[in-house]
Amino acid sequence: MKVFIVGIAGGIGSRLARLLTATGDQVDGLYRRSEQGRHLETHGIHATHGDLTRLDAPALAALLHGTDVLVFTAGAGGKNGTGATTATDGTGLTTAVEAARLTGTRRLLLVSVFPEAWRHRDVSDTFEHYIDVKKRADAELAATDLDWTILRPAALTDEPGTGHISLSPALVHTDITRDDVAATLAELVHAPRIPHQILELTQGPEPITDAVHRQTHDLPTGGRP
Ligand SMILES: NC(=O)c1ccc[n+]([C@@H]2O[C@H](COP(=O)([O-])OP(=O)(O)OC[C@H]3O[C@@H](n4cnc5c(N)ncnc54)[C@H](OP(=O)(O)O)[C@@H]3O)[C@@H](O)[C@H]2O)c1
Repeated sequence: MKVFIVGIAGGIGSRLARLLTATGDQVDGLYRRSEQGRHLETHGIHATHGDLTRLDAPALAALLHGTDVLVFTAGAGGKNGTGATTATDGTGLTTAVEAARLTGTRRLLLVSVFPEAWRHRDVSDTFEHYIDVKKRADAELAATDLDWTILRPAALTDEPGTGHISLSPALVHTDITRDDVAATLAELVHAPRIPHQILELTQGPEPITDAVHRQTHDLPTGGRP
């Protein structure tokens, strides 16, 4: 399977790329800084250097040929102001959707966020903008006829993965390791009967494989392929 990861050098993207490469998938992706390419190469991952905000859909589509699954996990991370968030997490997703259409790439997995994340905190206007852009991106993708899946991880940590999660259309926001998010995405990549779902993800009691497969089996009889 050929998987293209937008944001392949990021915390989630790089972990996902390593997992998929280890299981024999063909992995490509977009990274922003040249030194990230050299780092990916040390793990046997060949990706493409480019800034998503400077690519139009045909330019990104030129990189996608033969892609079975497009994973979008790029994010401005609250750096460089609200404009960067709009351009990367918002307009960048629009570009990815258009590029997927141009190349006939049917499956798109989007890493999003719980809309109510950190509601107990006194969050900044920048954070509110981030949540707004992410929700609009979810809505935009959900309105397409692509085989989309939106994954909303809780607050990310760099603790070692546990292999155990909760995965459901509605969960209470807690946290989740980047290792376990990447492992869940890897499982979703290989679970094609799961389109048109928004799934929230936290640390939890269920083995990742079981949690993903339960979502597959929860599809109604005669549901979408
Ligand atoms: N942080 C949280 O607690 C949390 C919770 C839920 C969901 N999320 C979501 O999880 C996703 C990824 O998280 P993460 O920990 O993997 O973040 P990350 O390490 O910051 O990875 C995001 C990657 O996107 C890349 N990127 C940003 N702008 C780009 C551009 N214009 N062109 C190409 N690449 C670009 C970044 O490049 P650089 O390395 O050059 O910056 C980075 O490598 C994001 O979508 C975020 O919204 C985060």
